[in-house]
Amino acid sequence: MGLNDAQRQALVDAAVVARQHAHAPFSGFDVGAAVLTDDGTVFAGCNVEVSNYSEGCCAERIAAFKAISAGHRHLVACAVVAKMAEIPCGPCGACRQVLRDFGPEMEVVLGSPEGEMLASMPLQELFPMSFGPEHVLASIRARHGGD
Ligand code: THU
Repeated sequence: MGLNDAQRQALVDAAVVARQHAHAPFSGFDVGAAVLTDDGTVFAGCNVEVSNYSEGCCAERIAAFKAISAGHRHLVACAVVAKMAEIPCGPCGACRQVLRDFGPEMEVVLGSPEGEMLASMPLQELFPMSFGPEHVLASIRARHGGD
């Protein structure tokens, strides 16, 4: 299911474009993200901050929720683009959980605002031993007698 470099670059490019719409007047930290679905569709998003800071949302979740709300359920990759001073930064914890629910085997690609590909790794490496839908569903099944 691995991506090739052209697919990685296309995803980074989509995230770069989305980052131009980032609304981050409070942090000044603009982020763009793009997810790739299992049928090859790309959805992009940017971070959106609001005056009650905790109600804003990260670029990755917005991109993922755009895909989900368009009917997709399986994400195979996510690119994240931000100005990363010295160290590339991966998705935040909350976004890792959302990406994991809809793409446990996905690849995460990190890029620069100039469109340079900086790193790429499996989400499983960023989020080992994670919790997911199968744990909840198994517990529900056990409670209802296994049918
Ligand atoms: N942010 C993202 O959009 N994605 C991340 O993975 C990390 C953080 C946003 C949230 C907030 O708008 C700004 O970056 C600073 O935390």
